[in-house]
Amino acid sequence: MVTGAGSGIGEQTAARLASEGAQVILVGRTVSKLERAAQQINDGLSEPAAVIFQADVTKEEEVQGLADFIEQKSGDLHILVNNAGTSGNSSILNMEESEWDRIQNTNLKSVYLVSKALGRLMINSKEQDEGEVNRSIVNVASLSGHKAGAKIPHYSSSKAAVINFTKSLALEFAPYGIRVNSVSPGFAETPLTEEGLKNKRFEEAIQRNTALGRVGRPEEIAKVITFAASDEASYMTGSDLLVDGGWMIT
Ligand code: NAI
Repeated sequence: MVTGAGSGIGEQTAARLASEGAQVILVGRTVSKLERAAQQINDGLSEPAAVIFQADVTKEEEVQGLADFIEQKSGDLHILVNNAGTSGNSSILNMEESEWDRIQNTNLKSVYLVSKALGRLMINSKEQDEGEVNRSIVNVASLSGHKAGAKIPHYSSSKAAVINFTKSLALEFAPYGIRVNSVSPGFAETPLTEEGLKNKRFEEAIQRNTALGRVGRPEEIAKVITFAASDEASYMTGSDLLVDGGWMIT
């Protein structure tokens, strides 16, 4: 299951997981975006690999609806990717409380709500598992969770919290054999960054600050999320994988 799967990194992650053989549930608020993403995955397949579920992941009752939907289907969730997120632009002094809450709720509270509701399902399934069955959670954090960023204090603090929350969840879920990791993308070209990238000077500044000299592609982040989610990463939990084209080393 991937949240925020109607666009960008979430859409590419759902596609990548499906290409590796997963049945995926694409979760988001906008049905038209989810349908388009699911159709891309299902095109040409004899059996559809993707289904959609509409939910606002900041709302506990909608997240519970999602858990009920999965339980009715089979209850057997192997991989959860908490990817939904949003950003904004404001200094601390000029920020309205509502803007602070919007960012924290979307980026951090949603990870808690979804991990709690679906983590329960994963634990229940784990108890029925025979032998080693890969079950894991990947939270999408950010390079910004590792450093301060101008005019994004709400965003960077929410992502720093996601990295730390991931470690607590990893500790709590380790006895059940469920791994939990985060992936921190650098700057990738998605609807979230589209506006900023229209500014050539901004794009050039990113290229200058990135060792690889370019903005990332969402599928390059999706590959690493898929790795962390898979049993290829069977001895990795509580870790954060930075996928930033070398921004942190410049
Ligand atoms: P995006 O805007 O294409 O994707 C975010 C998705 O989350 C959208 O489809 C949006 O509708 C959905 N979403 C937002 N609030 C939601 C809610 N309350 N309930 C359900 N769905 C919701 O942007 P992108 O870049 O693909 O972002 C994905 C994740 O990657 C986010 O967590 C973002 O913070 C993170 N990220 C992105 C970077 C980038 O450069 N694109 C860099 C670092 C982190």
